[in-house]
Amino acid sequence: MALLRNFRPFLGSNLIKRTIASLNSLPETHQMLQKSCRDFAEGELKPIASKIDKEHLYPKEQIKTMGELGLMAVEVPESYGGTGLDYLAYAIAMEEISRGCASCGVIMSVNNSLYLGPILHFGNDSQKQKYITPFTTGEKVGCFALSEPGNGSDAGAASTTATLKGDSYILNGTKAWITNGYESEASVVFATTDKSMKHKGISAIITSKPTPGLDLGKKEDKLGIRGSSTCSLIFEDCSIPKENLLGQPGMGFKIAMMTLDSGRIGIASQALGIAQASLEVAIEYANKRLAFGKPLTKLQTIQNKLAEMALQLDSARLLTWRAAWLKDNKKPYTKEAAMAKLAASEAATFLSHQCIQILGGMGYVSEMPAERFYRDARITEIYEGTSEIQKLVIAGNLLKEYS
Ligand code: CAA
Repeated sequence: MALLRNFRPFLGSNLIKRTIASLNSLPETHQMLQKSCRDFAEGELKPIASKIDKEHLYPKEQIKTMGELGLMAVEVPESYGGTGLDYLAYAIAMEEISRGCASCGVIMSVNNSLYLGPILHFGNDSQKQKYITPFTTGEKVGCFALSEPGNGSDAGAASTTATLKGDSYILNGTKAWITNGYESEASVVFATTDKSMKHKGISAIITSKPTPGLDLGKKEDKLGIRGSSTCSLIFEDCSIPKENLLGQPGMGFKIAMMTLDSGRIGIASQALGIAQASLEVAIEYANKRLAFGKPLTKLQTIQNKLAEMALQLDSARLLTWRAAWLKDNKKPYTKEAAMAKLAASEAATFLSHQCIQILGGMGYVSEMPAERFYRDARITEIYEGTSEIQKLVIAGNLLKEYS
């Protein structure tokens, strides 16, 4: 359990804050944290990432170990069983885990940012005791149920209803594309408590699983991140105690948007991990493979590719760390988180594409991890808001700044 906590006393020092502000390099303590997470991912995740992908295996044991290491509740204070570190630390840990296994990365990300995040920031003490603490150890995971079959990007159009009857909300409707949907033992569900109020009528309700009236749809057969499950949650007269309401009735849309702001830093970091892994595989291969009598790395055309890959990766990483730093320093970061997610997810797609290109035929077969990186990268441009949605968020906030 000690791994991440060991770094806690060092994270607030002025020297570190100054260094982070410059964003040129990581402070020493974050570097140590990065190394510990990297060693774990290298030793425990990388060797089985291909098996997890090929067999669609949920990495139960690995997630438990990640919980023991403090990775499943990085931002949660120790008083609720978490690790109590800052968001920059979370971003770094997410990248390293995803570098080893992107499926483990998304399971970690959804539990940390999308499930625990809103309960931590909007829940009351008894909700935190009940729905945070047991979800910090890796034994139990949570999920976040916002999208529906008929509306993904237009999150304000939620049609699932939550009708107050006595001391309970009665939920009816279907939530779609729910990461961790199969294994999760609780979910933050967004449902409309007052349709006439449109997005202002959406509320956030914590729902335990299993519970009568809640069924699961089929497990989706996905292009990538195949170790994580994705399915629908189908509510039919599902009764949830009214004390499970997060915040006030009608606050759900704001809770969802604020949760996604921080969640996007997590997905940006997942994308960085995939991109970093792609760069490393490309360089390792290009150093060994001979063409025209010399290693590929001696060819300018390959050097060009490597330079473009490194440029995109570093730019996206700086944007991601900036967004985390802004969040840690309680400054607005909606636009910056969207920029980070947009840049990092596009970098992951670009780098994994170039990795395949450099490996040639070997990039196209599952003997090498390049094709998995490409498949895993693709979803980072879709979930927690597509690239097109990130551009809307960036432009909307930019125009506000200039108005
Ligand atoms: N923080 C706080 N409040 C916010 C906000 C933010 N980041 N963004 C918007 N709001 C507020 C606005 O201030 C406004 O408040 P008022 O009504 O009080 O004025 C209200 O929310 C409505 O704002 P908009 O008019 O901008 O909302 P919109 O309906 O036009 O939608 C959107 C904006 C950016 C397109 C939003 O719907 C969105 O982010 N869509 C994408 C949803 C998404 O990312 N889905 C992924 C689901 S999770 C997932 O991927 C599954 C998984 O398991 C990983």
